[in-house]
Amino acid sequence: MAAGSEWDPAEVASKYRPLIYRQAIWLLRHPHDAEDATQEVLMKLYRFLPQFRNQSKLTTWVYRITYNVCMNLFEKRRKAWQELVWVNEDLGVNSEGEIERLGDLLGMLRALYDLPAKYRVPLGLYYILDMPYKQIAERLNLPVNTVKVRIHRGIRLLQRQLGVISDPDCQPDCSTRRWSMSDIMEHVERQFATGIALVTTVGSLGPNVMAAEWTMQVSYDPFLIAVFVSPDEATHGQILESEEFGINICSDDQLALIALAGGYTRREVDKLSSELFETYPAKYIKAPMIKGCVVNAECRLYAHHRLGDHTAFVGEVLAATYDESKRPVIRRGHGFHRLGPQIERPRLVYVAVGSGPAVPGGVIRVIGRAFDPPAEGVRILIEAPTGRQWVLATLETTPRGTFSGDVRLPDDIPSGVPLALVALAGERFGRARLQVVETKAP
Ligand SMILES: Cc1cc2nc3c(=O)[nH]c(=O)nc-3n(C[C@H](O)[C@H](O)[C@H](O)COP(=O)(O)O)c2cc1C
Repeated sequence: MAAGSEWDPAEVASKYRPLIYRQAIWLLRHPHDAEDATQEVLMKLYRFLPQFRNQSKLTTWVYRITYNVCMNLFEKRRKAWQELVWVNEDLGVNSEGEIERLGDLLGMLRALYDLPAKYRVPLGLYYILDMPYKQIAERLNLPVNTVKVRIHRGIRLLQRQLGVISDPDCQPDCSTRRWSMSDIMEHVERQFATGIALVTTVGSLGPNVMAAEWTMQVSYDPFLIAVFVSPDEATHGQILESEEFGINICSDDQLALIALAGGYTRREVDKLSSELFETYPAKYIKAPMIKGCVVNAECRLYAHHRLGDHTAFVGEVLAATYDESKRPVIRRGHGFHRLGPQIERPRLVYVAVGSGPAVPGGVIRVIGRAFDPPAEGVRILIEAPTGRQWVLATLETTPRGTFSGDVRLPDDIPSGVPLALVALAGERFGRARLQVVETKAP
């Protein structure tokens, strides 16, 4: 369908409708909404079609528009439910909200469907199928206590999604009481800023992808990446089976992929069959890699260890690529963020290690390493708790940044006060480690 050529709306609809609907149902999980979104995208498509010359660009455009339309619709619905539904601690209706005002139970169900599977499934069994804890535990092959914790935490997450947690009355008041463990879980957990990995695997369930915010590099040499995966996830079993996994660090334009990878399990859905995911074959592992990411790393399982309710899978990186044009998406709490402007580094950065009672005229040996050291060497200072500093020496560094030397303490330092040793790496930012290996009196 070239620009300006005749095109038939019925032909366009029959070609693109299934693709749009499929993506919309992935994102909205509700047939009526997916249908509304599909109509809206088709209308836009009819309007803009004459501008497209190239079919492949058109498909990309359709994906992007569908994503935007779905997200707008989702936001509208969310606001509407928020006004309509007010949930209290017990998932009931608050004093002012009569049952009729709850109105759209589907709204609640949809919020439920947005929870990760590990909360969604027990909550659904408990509240919708009315199953007792014990039966849920048997069905999911989990200890009863784990089921209880998940239901409790699932309710909290649901409340947060429906906006209840933003109520200031719900905030723990640390001035009047200590935070309980559940308050801590509620308000402090997941406050670390992280990236998000799409963890790809192969195994008896076939190829799979899941979202994991708990992913990070943990060693330079060997180059190791750790990802923390709950034993409930299909990915957990797949990694144990195949002893490998792909780490694909998401860019800030891949939120739809995260929603799909993190919202469904391979036990129910073949997520990678969605056209949202563009994959390419890895060089050293069987799991596919995802296109459009900031980093792609092929990992062979190096070690794994159960820690609390997750397993730390540590992978040795066999091959990795980095796309400089992409920016990683940042996850904090339940939100996603873009990287902000870089913060200016302080001009002088030092690390002081080793303090001890000062001995006027004493000699100390200093050993350290500065990263990115200045050519003029590292200045060694000693600082009293009052802030007064004495410059002791300038030590030369080796090409690797290491330095060492015996340094004499001044005669006028106050005797016996603890003094901190400071290394200044010139005007540039440089990290330094210092070790005081010997202190002797004059
Ligand atoms: C943004 C986001 C981050 C997530 N991070 C983790 C994580 O670090 N570890 C984990 O076990 N599950 C995490 N999850 C949950 C899994 O991605 C989710 O349960 C997924 O459905 C598991 O898929 P699977 O059963 O096909 O392996 C995250 C979900 C989302 C949406």
